[in-house]
Amino acid sequence: MATCRIAVLPGDGIGQEVTPEAVRVLRAVGKGAGAGFEFEEALVGGAAIDATGVPLAPGALELCRQAHAILFGAVGGPKWEGVAHEARPERGLLALRKELDLYANLRPARCFPMLVDASPLKRAVVEGTDLMVIRELTGGLYFGEPRGVERFADGGARAVNTMAYTSREIERIARTGFEVARKRRRRLASVDKANVLVVSQLWREVVTRVAKEYPDVALEHVLVDNCAMALVQRPTQFDTLVTENTFGDILSDEAAILAGSMGMLPSASIGGAVGLYEPVHGTAPDIAGKGVANPIAAILSAAMLLRYSLGLEREADRVERAVERVLEQGHRTADIAAPGRRPVGTREMGDLIVREVEAQS
Ligand code: IPM
Ligand code: MG
Repeated sequence: MATCRIAVLPGDGIGQEVTPEAVRVLRAVGKGAGAGFEFEEALVGGAAIDATGVPLAPGALELCRQAHAILFGAVGGPKWEGVAHEARPERGLLALRKELDLYANLRPARCFPMLVDASPLKRAVVEGTDLMVIRELTGGLYFGEPRGVERFADGGARAVNTMAYTSREIERIARTGFEVARKRRRRLASVDKANVLVVSQLWREVVTRVAKEYPDVALEHVLVDNCAMALVQRPTQFDTLVTENTFGDILSDEAAILAGSMGMLPSASIGGAVGLYEPVHGTAPDIAGKGVANPIAAILSAAMLLRYSLGLEREADRVERAVERVLEQGHRTADIAAPGRRPVGTREMGDLIVREVEAQS
């Protein structure tokens, strides 16, 4: 097959440590499949601010547009906390999502059988969890207008964010929800706050309408507060969830704990011309630079890249199988290690998975 160009944006903190491991895994897969990958790096987040003064380095957006897919690390950190709102590291990622129209964010949370005890939740609760959170990514509070802060002469202030959705925005993410659910266990939970928010009432109305095109998928509407509770009480009742931007941000962090650790959760942001793949965990400033971060979320994101952007289904399976094999062999990074067991570092975990991928090709 022709050469695939992959834009690599490691960003900050542990993003810089886990992303290279995902690149190594892709190289190994490419060699086995006879597919050529070309990797080109660009700066985003705090790293871009330090080097260029803006959270998305000049040329980075263009590089992404020209690529077949984007491999992303993480952005942010205490160093840039004082930076003005519109110039924060996070704006680099938000600009990419918006500019590339990446409206659908897929976050699968599966409890690996060998990691059941890594979750702080009871075995009886998390065992068998296999769900997909689909988060709308380019609307809602994150982008709604008006937004801003007004300062008053008396020292007081008033700040505004706006939760806004058009029926068209809801419709397209609802379709993604039904399409994904159709390939899974045909159950879709649409999460909203329709008992309070008018935005959610429109959300529910549109999702219900789209559901008519998918009679084979069972749809239920769940209120977000109830969903947050049900996720830690009986997560196995869920298959596919679809929800707006902010609710999805919160619920997907919660779902990560069902999978044992934030270090295990990959994501795909799709919908536009080029997909972006990133681990759900952030920059983890507390462990950054120590070489102990779990690279599995980044590596599983690379597997999603193979599947969704390149159509390399077999290769994606191979990466996922390699991760499972390494876990079955008992190797653990610190976040998922049992107390008293010696954990492996980021690089070592990457080595183990690369070797397993090579053994399978
Ligand atoms: C995520 C992150 C981002 C978000 C931040 C880094 C802007 O928390 O991808 O979940 O809020 O979307
Ligand atoms: Mg988040």
